[in-house]
Amino acid sequence: MTLALEVNGQVHKLTVDPSTPLLYVLRNELGLKGPKFGCGLGECGACTVLVDGAPVRSCLLPTASFVDRQVVSVEGLGNASDPHPLQQAFIDEQAAQCAYCIPGMIMTAQALLARNPQPSEAQIKQALLANFCGCGTHLRIVRAVQRAAA
Ligand code: FES
Repeated sequence: MTLALEVNGQVHKLTVDPSTPLLYVLRNELGLKGPKFGCGLGECGACTVLVDGAPVRSCLLPTASFVDRQVVSVEGLGNASDPHPLQQAFIDEQAAQCAYCIPGMIMTAQALLARNPQPSEAQIKQALLANFCGCGTHLRIVRAVQRAAA
């Protein structure tokens, strides 16, 4: 089945099984390796992308659910030579250790800052509560979001 999927501002016509979780299509069909497979159960947040501006766990829902929606992965914010201010804040605070969780953290934080440009520390922690970091760099991650909001 051919689906038209808008990702990072580009429409892609893809021949995929519509029941395939979005994460697999992003990574395997579109080569977007930012969203990560962590748990595959919607619990860790490593696969988070924005869908119409809201953070969504891309491992959970079938790709067919995202037709006529705007999907943005971490690659859609910026890149190494032209990072988004939030990505730059994560770099400046050296928020990444292994970095596996960071794309999901950034996309969740981006959704927070879009709806609340000056969040309190408690609001940042609440927004990122369900994003797991196995390295324990949460304090630096919170500082990065604070830096981006400043
Ligand atoms: Fe999707 Fe963990 S891989 S929430």
